[in-house]
Amino acid sequence: GAPVEVDLTSLAPGEMRTVAWRGKPVWVMHRTPEQIKDLPKNDPLLADPHSDRPGFTPPFAKNEYRSRKPEYLVVVAICTHLGCVPTPHFEVGAQPGLPSSWEGGFLCPCHGSTYDLSGRVFKNVPAPDNLEVPPYAFSADGTKLTIG
Ligand code: FES
Repeated sequence: GAPVEVDLTSLAPGEMRTVAWRGKPVWVMHRTPEQIKDLPKNDPLLADPHSDRPGFTPPFAKNEYRSRKPEYLVVVAICTHLGCVPTPHFEVGAQPGLPSSWEGGFLCPCHGSTYDLSGRVFKNVPAPDNLEVPPYAFSADGTKLTIG
């Protein structure tokens, strides 16, 4: 499939866009400084906080942010359990179906798997792996993202 270009100048902090890449939905999220700061709080609750399991995280994304730049999350929006599309839940705090210390993230409607704002899967849910990070790069001036 052809690479997909995303204009980042219109993606404000806190906003997320879904684009299609190779027939799959891919989320591009502009995380806020607060969302970035809160990511490490999730580590003890996650199945694979450092993305050590093979297959879903390219070397450039083996960090807390699972990305090339802390402010941008780029992940394939397909649950690693049985392939449903999770839904964003950006509101912080306790909510039905979510861990009580919720810092924002994604909930799969099919069997309740939860992911944080780095696409890292929580413990004790059906999904085994973190969301897949596709190959991507930023333009030199940082205004454009190319997926694929
Ligand atoms: Fe997402 Fe089963 S497909 S939890």
